[in-house]
Amino acid sequence: MAIEQKLSLMIPGPTPIPEKVLQALSKHPIGHRSKEFQDLVESTTKNLKWLHQTKNDVLTITGSGTAAMEAGIINTLSKGDKVICGENGKFGERWVKVAKQFGLDVIEITSEWGNPLNPEEFKKILEEDENKKIKAVILTHSETSTGVINDLETISSYIREHNTALSIVDCVTSLGACNVPVDDWKLDVVASGSQKGYMIPPGLSFVAMSQKAWEASEKSNIPKFYLNLKSYKKSLLSNSNPYTPAVNLVFALDEALKMMREEGLDNIFQRHNKHKLAMSNAVKALNLQLFADEKYLSPSITAIKTNEINAEEFRKIIKNKFDILIAGGQDHLKGKIFRVGHLGYVNDRDIITVISAISSTLLNLGKISAEQAGEALVVASKYLDSD
Ligand SMILES: Cc1ncc(COP(=O)(O)O)c(C=O)c1O
Repeated sequence: MAIEQKLSLMIPGPTPIPEKVLQALSKHPIGHRSKEFQDLVESTTKNLKWLHQTKNDVLTITGSGTAAMEAGIINTLSKGDKVICGENGKFGERWVKVAKQFGLDVIEITSEWGNPLNPEEFKKILEEDENKKIKAVILTHSETSTGVINDLETISSYIREHNTALSIVDCVTSLGACNVPVDDWKLDVVASGSQKGYMIPPGLSFVAMSQKAWEASEKSNIPKFYLNLKSYKKSLLSNSNPYTPAVNLVFALDEALKMMREEGLDNIFQRHNKHKLAMSNAVKALNLQLFADEKYLSPSITAIKTNEINAEEFRKIIKNKFDILIAGGQDHLKGKIFRVGHLGYVNDRDIITVISAISSTLLNLGKISAEQAGEALVVASKYLDSD
């Protein structure tokens, strides 16, 4: 049936793609050394800087978000360097793995999954490091696996007080969803990926590099080739790329960034915040529990505990009955939580629809009353009407 194609993506990436962006993707590729392509790179670079709120370099890599994470580490650090890694979910765990893989000496600051990292633990270790042995503090801003947003603003202020350590941050599901003022917070390396707030398909990732990060790169001795960011920086001087980039994704990126500029940063952040509040409050009205600490809810993902209902079975019903894809739990959370992505090209209709689908499923399973199902929509509407 043709209508089987009408899948709605409510996962935290890949996210839905605007029509204009799809059209850009479907164009014939052009030569990546042409003037036309250089103009495009000039435009995307300017708009990437705007999105990151930075005057420094933002480099585009053909590769997924993990490529940007890896590039951040291997370009600024050396084997044996002492670093702090924050770990309170799957992606914090990934940072630890990448850091260890490249021979870094990792001090882990952990929090139980669902809780935020405690900034005071970072402060204490940084203050005790009088000999300035710690070369970097590495963490995830929005922890996609749990729906928690870490207090990057406070943690980055402690890193600045240390004065030597670099801040290396995964902003894969926070950039383009909430405020990440890269220069104001003096973030040194910021990694992100195309299939999230950027509203384009997977395949590109981005690394913002501060002046301090470039200085550190002069001392870095970790072997690298494809992800050597100096090659990307050099090419960018002529609005080019060191290797063949995903040309059509760059068409899409240009279109998507223009759409973002048109909407404006504050409006984008407000929209994500409103959707977060509508989702989280509707969930509570449905007698479900939020997995994340309510004071630290990510603007991009709501993780929901299902208690006695198997979350995988629940997801299957939502997918089969409503053609809405929601995400499951990762690792030990599989079957215990489901996650609704509300990141990127998401409007009020998407939010009210996914809440209705969840309510309807709970109602059919006999888990809630018709009144509760109705109440969830009333609550969500209150937040959606707030602009
Ligand atoms: C917070 C976070 N970091 C890193 C990644 C890894 O990105 P990718 O799968 O594009 O390599 C993801 C992907 O979901 C993510 O959500």
